[in-house]
Amino acid sequence: MSTVDTKTTPVAADVPPPITEATQHGVYPKMSHDERARFNFEACLYKTISKQIAPGNALAYEKRVLPKFEKENSRKPETRHDVRKAMNKDPLHNFWGALRRNTMEMRQVNGQHVTLRQLDDLAHRAAEINAGSNRLMLDPSVEVPAYVKAVDHHCMPGSYHRELIEGDVSPAANYDAGFFITTGGTIGGLCDGAGESIAQWLKDQDANFKPKRILDIGCALGNSLLPIAQAFPEADIVAIDISAPMLRYGHARATSLGVKNITFMQMSGEDLSTFADGSFDFVMTSIFLHELSTKSLPKIMREGYRVLSGGGAMLHLEQPQYGDDMPVYEQFIRDWDSYNNNEPFWSAMHEIDLDELLVGLGFAPESISHAALRSGDFDMTNEDHGRSPAWHAYVAKKA
Ligand SMILES: C[S@@+](CC[C@H](N)C(=O)[O-])C[C@H]1O[C@@H](n2cnc3c(N)ncnc32)[C@H](O)[C@@H]1O
Repeated sequence: MSTVDTKTTPVAADVPPPITEATQHGVYPKMSHDERARFNFEACLYKTISKQIAPGNALAYEKRVLPKFEKENSRKPETRHDVRKAMNKDPLHNFWGALRRNTMEMRQVNGQHVTLRQLDDLAHRAAEINAGSNRLMLDPSVEVPAYVKAVDHHCMPGSYHRELIEGDVSPAANYDAGFFITTGGTIGGLCDGAGESIAQWLKDQDANFKPKRILDIGCALGNSLLPIAQAFPEADIVAIDISAPMLRYGHARATSLGVKNITFMQMSGEDLSTFADGSFDFVMTSIFLHELSTKSLPKIMREGYRVLSGGGAMLHLEQPQYGDDMPVYEQFIRDWDSYNNNEPFWSAMHEIDLDELLVGLGFAPESISHAALRSGDFDMTNEDHGRSPAWHAYVAKKA
């Protein structure tokens, strides 16, 4: 007989799906019982922190930090930096931050454990699938920019590009498995909720939109691109990234999932000189701009505009920009990753006026639109600022 009273005790209702529910494919890393158990524990810890402890940040601000700030400064906080400096002295906020940082580090340690012990096997599996394909084009002369090389993004050792052996795909395998854990399964078994929501939105806007050539800049392993490739099967798609491991894994993953209309190319978005002006009728980035330096971001946007054809559309998916209409507390909490999760460009990027930038490239102001996109049936009451599948699309049409 069960000792749990299921009428009063919620059983498993709020528990994230186990890692075994992540969709398997030809290069997905294999996991032992203990490795799966560690990932599952980490997913539960993430969820507990965001559901049970994170709401305490706003309470701490309202009840303790804001009144103290007002008393000491005879004014309200004017910027997110005012809020951050004051909140950094609050014990609950520091407790939450330490837990969140540590959970990310734990997830990376397990990801390294899982992928490094099968380093050769992963590379071998990817090489077997990729053999003979003309849709994987690597170019070892492409340099990893300093703004990528200097950072272990979100505590990921070696970031996206580290190569320990020839044909290495381990950074991508680690990213793939860990993404399911940090998102608690909320963006699907293939972690492709961002791409699904873009594809759905494009169809909703114009059922006749049928791009012939699509460019995705900073595709990583193609999580977001695959649903777009599936939604537009006639389109010829080019996915570029500076990281060879991401591209090898991305091509093998797409092939094993039956997606064949993407060419994965090693190239920097800063130099698209391989492509003539107007070569693509849809140019996109997804969850990418916040990892760019202040100098490279406009350069990449300019190149994207150049290769976009007249009548074509450009789309960038990100968390929302700060802007004057966003309360300083919300800006502060969204900014946390910049200071504590190895996302050094997040803060500066989110204060850029992207509309102004797009107009500066040559887009007409009236051609620019914004859309709030979210994955599947994501419930906004679960919003965990900066981490939720609740994105913002910036779209512009070239005359
Ligand atoms: C956060 S991931 C992108 C996620 C992916 N677009 C998605 O939606 O799942 C950032 C990627 O950008 C790549 N990257 C960074 N700088 C780049 C550049 N200048 N050109 C092309 N790719 C770049 C990194 O190697 C990494 O794979």
